Amino acid sequence: MGAYAETYRQSLTDPEGFWLDAANAVEWEQAPTRALDDSAAPLYRWFPDGVLNTCFNALDRHVRDGRGEQPALIWDSAMTGTVRSFTYRELLERVALFAGALRAQGVARGDRVVLYLPMIPEAVVAMLACARIGAVHSVVFGGFAPRELAARIDDARPKLIVAASCGLEPNRIVEYKPIVDEALRLAEHQPERVVVFQREQARAELGPRDVDWNDALAQAEPAECVPVRATDPLYVLYTSGTTGRPKGVVRDNGGHAVALRWSMANIYDIGPGEVFWTASDVGWVVGHSYIVYAPLLTGATTVVYEGKPVGTPDAGAFWRVIAEHRVKALFTAPTALRAIKRMDPKGELLAEHDTSSLRTLFLAGERLDPETYHWASDQLGVPVVDHWWQTETGWPVCANLRGLEPMPIKPGSPTVPVPGYEVAVLDQAGRPVPPGADGAICLKLPLPPGTLPTLWGDDERFRESYLSRHPGYYLTGDNGYVDADGYVFVMGRTDDVINVAGHRLSTGSMEAVLAAHPAVAECAVIGVHDALKGQVPRGFVVLKSGVDIAEETLREELVAAVRAEIGPVAAFRDVAVVDGLPKTRSGKILRKAMREIADTGDTRVPSTIENPTVLDRLRPALRGDR
Ligand code: COA
Ligand code: AMP
Repeated sequence: MGAYAETYRQSLTDPEGFWLDAANAVEWEQAPTRALDDSAAPLYRWFPDGVLNTCFNALDRHVRDGRGEQPALIWDSAMTGTVRSFTYRELLERVALFAGALRAQGVARGDRVVLYLPMIPEAVVAMLACARIGAVHSVVFGGFAPRELAARIDDARPKLIVAASCGLEPNRIVEYKPIVDEALRLAEHQPERVVVFQREQARAELGPRDVDWNDALAQAEPAECVPVRATDPLYVLYTSGTTGRPKGVVRDNGGHAVALRWSMANIYDIGPGEVFWTASDVGWVVGHSYIVYAPLLTGATTVVYEGKPVGTPDAGAFWRVIAEHRVKALFTAPTALRAIKRMDPKGELLAEHDTSSLRTLFLAGERLDPETYHWASDQLGVPVVDHWWQTETGWPVCANLRGLEPMPIKPGSPTVPVPGYEVAVLDQAGRPVPPGADGAICLKLPLPPGTLPTLWGDDERFRESYLSRHPGYYLTGDNGYVDADGYVFVMGRTDDVINVAGHRLSTGSMEAVLAAHPAVAECAVIGVHDALKGQVPRGFVVLKSGVDIAEETLREELVAAVRAEIGPVAAFRDVAVVDGLPKTRSGKILRKAMREIADTGDTRVPSTIENPTVLDRLRPALRGDR
């Protein structure tokens, strides 16, 4: 039996032994004597009697063990032309001091802190500082608009917000502070303070409740690590669900540290002292796990990159970063590769850089289309590894485990289930389907350590969203199949979540914005295929009778409304005025049929449809004809 098969078998037959053993890679204040707590099944907890501090494991222990002078974090900002390196000792000093500043502002163990920060070292400092004092961070991605930020503030109810004065996009400076101010105007919950990190590109005006980051530091003493229970929350990260209301995915301390440590060695094949670069954003789970926590828990060097794959300054930006920092593995989203390929199809810019340090390219966040896979592997000449996971799981569910036992790659598949995860493909009735047959991808409970124990303050929604459809299983929301060799193929979502340039968004929240326009009677938003971004949203609106508005004006207003209410990251630019939407006899809009027509030109008529002629009239708009 190979290393993968043996490890996988052990993880499922003896999870207790397997995870207690993996837990030895973490330093505990009080080592756990038990792995799984199933006393509240189907809600599970890991390492119920363990006590630790995540920040201690990410920083202090490495300094103590002689890594103090090794780079912990390299900040490479293509936006400002800056490169700065921080050793473990320097990062620890900054984190301890900012933790002291948070404490001086009244933040205590268990309090939430919302972070609204771009890709600057202070984002990592603020996250780890929260972890250090047992506070719970909730990072909000900078591309979201005030209303989305307000929704997260109201749900997390933070004691404090930490924001930067601005973020930098290639075409503009995004002033963050006015976004925070507007969000606080919209929010019911009011935090006591907003700590503002001033960037030179656009300094923010500070109001009565605002504190300048440097002033906060000036009054602070470095804070020591606060031991917390393994089951205490480390962070809450909001992600899009089917409805407009975001879901607060909870991550604990103990299971998270154990799982991420295990994944670095066994999946990513990264050890202490090696350079790992995840080109994502700290606002997404990929950034939480693989820019911040996993590389630092491992004692590796993480690259924090502020910039885009193309245009900063050109499509060779990624290759420059790999060459300059001797990156061993890069993790990004397929869309970034498609953007590079579009600008530099023959890899001429790649040839200008020495990327010989690169051993593996990891891709996730959306389906890796075989064309992009082949292009990237031909150009780079290293294994291009697709792997599949989601905000909820926090670390890969399916992967080609490069550190444990590399396997042959099948384009289109993220390879095999990772130890700890039992993947099942189920039909509508909850029965496992045979190899090759399509179905809902589910994970048998309990999920392994590091995955979400619940949703923030809402066990009921957790059960309803994930556990109730097929009892005994967690519903991933993706569909796909497993082939005869056990390779998993993930084909797309079964719900109204879409994935735009690797960014997860809810079409339901876009529909809510369109429906609020006074001229709109009803609407639908679906994700349609896009050659660069994988998917983009397309809206369809039916006007109220008697409304007199020019179609072009209405379109502009709707596009502007989605940008203002959800944010530029929604990339909502395409909306058609139609005379009806296809519905079932019970009045439900047939979004699935609409998606299929848009993507494949499918000519079938669903048997449940009430109004087939409406669907026929809609076909050109679904296909994008104007
Ligand atoms: N703060 C403020 N605005 C932001 C932002 C942020 N952090 N991130 C994105 N935006 C804005 C962009 O400026 C853009 O605005 P515009 O409409 O004025 O141009 C809009 O949101 C859409 O951004 P994006 O999706 O990044 O599209 P793009 O056309 O600028 O770039 C790619 C396309 C493919 C190059 C880019 O999406 C990319 O690098 N993707 C990688 C995805 C990724 O890292 N995913 C994380 C999961 S692994
Ligand atoms: P997020 O929670 O933002 O990480 O998005 C998770 C969703 O992105 C998954 O449920 C999938 O729909 C999609 N996804 C992520 N990685 C992959 C992948 N490798 N292949 C196919 N889909 C993916």
